Amino acid sequence: MKESDIKETQLQTEHINELPSLLNKVQNEKKRVLTASVITFGCQMNARDSEKLAGILSSAGFKLLEDDEDADFVLYNTCTVRDNANRKLYGHLGEAHASKKKNPDKLVAVCGCLPQEPEAFEILKKKYSFIDLIFGTHNIYAFPEYLCRLLSGERHIYEIMDATDRIVEDLPVLRKYPFKSGVNIMFGCNNFCTYCIVPYVRGRERSRESADIIKEIEGLVSSGVKEVMLLGQNVNSYGNGIEGEISFPELLKRVCDIKEIERVRFMTSHPKDLSDDLIKVIRDNTKICRHLHLPLQSGSTRILKEMNRHYSKEQFIDLALKIRSEIPGIAITTDIMVGFPSETMADIEDTLDVIRKVEFDNAFTFIYSKRMGTPAAVRDDQVSEENVKMYFDSVLACVQEYAKKRALVWQGKTFDALVEEEDSSTKGYVTGRLSNNMLVHFAGDKDLIGSIVPVKLDECRGFYYIGSKV
Ligand code: 5AD
Ligand code: SF4
Repeated sequence: MKESDIKETQLQTEHINELPSLLNKVQNEKKRVLTASVITFGCQMNARDSEKLAGILSSAGFKLLEDDEDADFVLYNTCTVRDNANRKLYGHLGEAHASKKKNPDKLVAVCGCLPQEPEAFEILKKKYSFIDLIFGTHNIYAFPEYLCRLLSGERHIYEIMDATDRIVEDLPVLRKYPFKSGVNIMFGCNNFCTYCIVPYVRGRERSRESADIIKEIEGLVSSGVKEVMLLGQNVNSYGNGIEGEISFPELLKRVCDIKEIERVRFMTSHPKDLSDDLIKVIRDNTKICRHLHLPLQSGSTRILKEMNRHYSKEQFIDLALKIRSEIPGIAITTDIMVGFPSETMADIEDTLDVIRKVEFDNAFTFIYSKRMGTPAAVRDDQVSEENVKMYFDSVLACVQEYAKKRALVWQGKTFDALVEEEDSSTKGYVTGRLSNNMLVHFAGDKDLIGSIVPVKLDECRGFYYIGSKV
């Protein structure tokens, strides 16, 4: 860790140590334990950040609740990648305002990607002035300090930073699952795909030092973690910009060398940077899960160029087929976006062609959403709603057809599943995750949660299986 990061960690740790007595004072006045809730929108990176925010709240002494409605302190960790995430947040804020009217001492905080957008920050400050704390992605590490200030009576703490070189990681974490964890290996993105707001709200790419990553994973393993997911917007460019740092495939190898770790995942891979070396490392390390998320976005070379993706339709197909032939049984999932400016049915035909050739095991299909400040948003050839709907329906139908076909291939076979939770719909059943990221529901006791057990996939139900423990 850098000297400045070590200093910041020490400073925030001091704030964390102050928190219990500050909270106790408020609790004594109220004569009850105060509750808190962290509501997360968006990606795995946000989910991981929320575990850290919840860890700090818990070490302060708050009782954590799932729901924001009744909590004395609610923190919204936001996403702004598409407009529907923004709309969801504003809905929650409306409800928080109503509940704050009933309980004026309720504290409301907003953090993450949304307030990094200058226009959104202005809206939050002006239209939602009941919010007590706003901070962004670059100063998330300062949450202990902001919480101290809130508990000391300060209000309207609105702090957004334009950039940071800080990486503060050694603060308390409250993991959602005791047996698996995300691990940040890098932050930000340098790719500037023309539709995407991420480089603007998460800043330039910064990798953590590999020694710190390995140390964190060793610590996780010693507290019972069996599966880690290495997280970054573009893990294939891990280490760029740090002199002498190892590459992503080498990092994966070192993680696999940690004896007690049983499963390793990673997310997300940009197709333009996926090397033969990485394919080889996945092939040769059975601890690395048989799942690769490889965002296609579009199958049209013309659209891909306008998106600034740096690969063509043919390059993507060749890469995916090479991965399939080198790593038997691997599941390839993807993200596809429809309605990018100027898109026509001919472009969609190319996307359908890629889906048919690659046979994705699953795909997230998104409608293009204009993000302010990105080059695509100011184009005057936006696609009509009617055409977008038509494109979306045809892509979704094709994706579903191939996902079903792929899932059927494994029916009747036996695989190891990491049991994650009790099944929410069938009593006496648990849900396990296969190496290829698919879910299987099978009869089992909740004592199995956290263990890896062999399960026969008896029946494929489209995107999941009903199985039995063998
Ligand atoms: N509109 C729609 N989808 C988007 N994504 C990123 N930006 C946008 C946007 N402006 C999708 C991409 C990316 C996923 C995380 O979100 O498909 O891979
Ligand atoms: Fe956005 Fe492209 Fe970076 Fe992914 S790689 S976060 S889509 S800019």
